[in-house]
Amino acid sequence: MSAGATPVGRVILVGGGPGDPDLLTVGGLRALREANVVLYDHLAPLSCLEETRPGTVLIDVGKLPRGHQTAQAEINALLIRHALAGAEVVRFKGGDPFVLGRGSEEWLACAEAGIPIRVIPGVSSAIAGPELAGIPLTHRGLTQNFSVVSGHVGPEHPSSTVNWDALAKSSGTIVILMGVAHLADICAGLIRRGLDADTPAAVVARAATPDQQVVRGTVATLPGLAAVAGIEPPALTVIGAVVGLNLGPAVPPNPATTKD
Ligand SMILES: C[S@@+](CC[C@H](N)C(=O)[O-])C[C@H]1O[C@@H](n2cnc3c(N)ncnc32)[C@H](O)[C@@H]1O
Repeated sequence: MSAGATPVGRVILVGGGPGDPDLLTVGGLRALREANVVLYDHLAPLSCLEETRPGTVLIDVGKLPRGHQTAQAEINALLIRHALAGAEVVRFKGGDPFVLGRGSEEWLACAEAGIPIRVIPGVSSAIAGPELAGIPLTHRGLTQNFSVVSGHVGPEHPSSTVNWDALAKSSGTIVILMGVAHLADICAGLIRRGLDADTPAAVVARAATPDQQVVRGTVATLPGLAAVAGIEPPALTVIGAVVGLNLGPAVPPNPATTKD
């Protein structure tokens, strides 16, 4: 660095969890409070933006399905430009940055530009979503494994790299993110590949928000039930014996510790 040049700032990828501000990590909250610039999208717990300091630059880089889409190259360029100008930049994302998001691409772009970068993991919707609907991903004596897959294209699409044949026979829990549009193709594809049509299945929409919606059925009936219920993204699907477990009613949150 030459004398008088602005020192390079840094970028922190912060996983915000699936929607409830209480699910943001302590480290993630600290990073938000110390940021000069925050790039956020619609899946992050947006009320946490109120934790930023006055004067923090807040930039919406949302990628709404069928709505406003910020190109990934544009997000990368913004991260780099603000860090090169010396800012402490937070990329605030929903869930975990390295689970079916594009956090690793952002990491690579910053690293190639010589920007110091770190990641603060978040609670992934893939795990928290089923959990908040009372569905564990594993259960002793019932299911010992789970897979998280992208359903942004269906099983018959040439660009799907998922081994749907293996998945149908895995005997584990299957969690599908980004699969609302292709839910019917995915369920039919799994049955065609050998998954029992009576396998319990559920959709959890807007998990960890006051609007959380859960639809339960089987892998055969779920697409129709989800359509009738008007399920829209963000939503995830969980398929497997664990969906059939009845854990009983949850204890309500403690009003003394629960925010409005
Ligand atoms: C691009 S992926 C990002 C996932 C994120 N990295 C994570 O770990 O949760 C977006 C998908 O995550 C799922 N998702 C994110 N937030 C959700 C929520 N609050 N409820 C249900 N699904 C959610 C949906 O399947 C959505 O299409």
